[in-house]
Amino acid sequence: MLDLRSDTVTRPTPQMRQAMAEAEVGDDVFGEDPTVLRLEQETAALLGKEAALYVASGHMANQVALNVAVGSGEEVWAHQGAHVLTDEQGATAFLARALPRAYDADEGYPPQDLLERWAEGIDDVHRARPALVCLENTFSGRVIPLAEQRRVASFAHAHGMRLHLDGARLWNAAVELGVPPAEVAAESDTVSVCFSKGLGAPVGSAVAADAETINRARRVRKLLGGGMRQAGIIAAGALHALREHRDRLADDHRRATHLAERISGIPGLEASAHTNMVWVTAPEGRAADYADAFAAHGVRCIPFDRETIRIVLHLEITDSDTEDAITRITKAAAQV
Ligand SMILES: Cc1ncc(COP(=O)(O)O)c(C=O)c1O
Repeated sequence: MLDLRSDTVTRPTPQMRQAMAEAEVGDDVFGEDPTVLRLEQETAALLGKEAALYVASGHMANQVALNVAVGSGEEVWAHQGAHVLTDEQGATAFLARALPRAYDADEGYPPQDLLERWAEGIDDVHRARPALVCLENTFSGRVIPLAEQRRVASFAHAHGMRLHLDGARLWNAAVELGVPPAEVAAESDTVSVCFSKGLGAPVGSAVAADAETINRARRVRKLLGGGMRQAGIIAAGALHALREHRDRLADDHRRATHLAERISGIPGLEASAHTNMVWVTAPEGRAADYADAFAAHGVRCIPFDRETIRIVLHLEITDSDTEDAITRITKAAAQV
């Protein structure tokens, strides 16, 4: 079975397991786990921030960042499909106590006129005070152009708002753009990154920012029950992934492009690739039928809505697996 549902399904490589087995550890709640500290320092340096904090998941990284950035009755602006709004059980409202305000935009980032409209009457005593804009890069695999990030960031900062970047797949964006990760993170006040997606680590994410923000974030992580003890065992997997698996993301992107081209040649299907994700458009209402047929032929993927199927390339999928997937998908589609 080829599992192409997500880049989160990967298992640690033998080298990663070895690094984990040999990890130097200590009590991280006391700030004494050398492997966690090393991971946090290297992550912060790569992202061009003063400090970083290792947390259990991307969800926790986002919510820790949001808790630090906003208070009761403040507004958080994000795309209606952003993870912070759609996939974190409403935590932005009940943990960060913020009023989520969702915009729609095909590209995944807010156009200037929307920002300007939403900022009208920003000081009006009747309304929640806009405090934070969230961006996601990549967004559904799409790279948000850095010029657009800069535009949104400078608007936010000019209006006394902060920018949080959900960079669960920031590593993919950096590789696709051919720039250092710090350039993608540059305008954000807080940035979250995941080690357990394209990089292939078993556990963990980080939030990075200035040192003062990370001190506050450390308290919020503890508040959420996220203080971990000998976390160096898992941090070692993340550190190995960070050092060894960033460059190879280009292979996932290349395979995604090839897969999309071949799927587009199948009658009834259209596909486009964005970094490591392939989005397949099926005839109206038939996405689940196609996804079921692909699974019956040994390719697992996710029907996202009635017409769209998501296929994700990752660490465990080689060139020959990609060819195998094409053969299986082609056979399956002929039987739908
Ligand atoms: C954009 C984005 N942000 C955050 C997360 C949350 O990561 P985790 O599953 O580690 O909580 C995900 C997970 O898929 C994601 O896609």
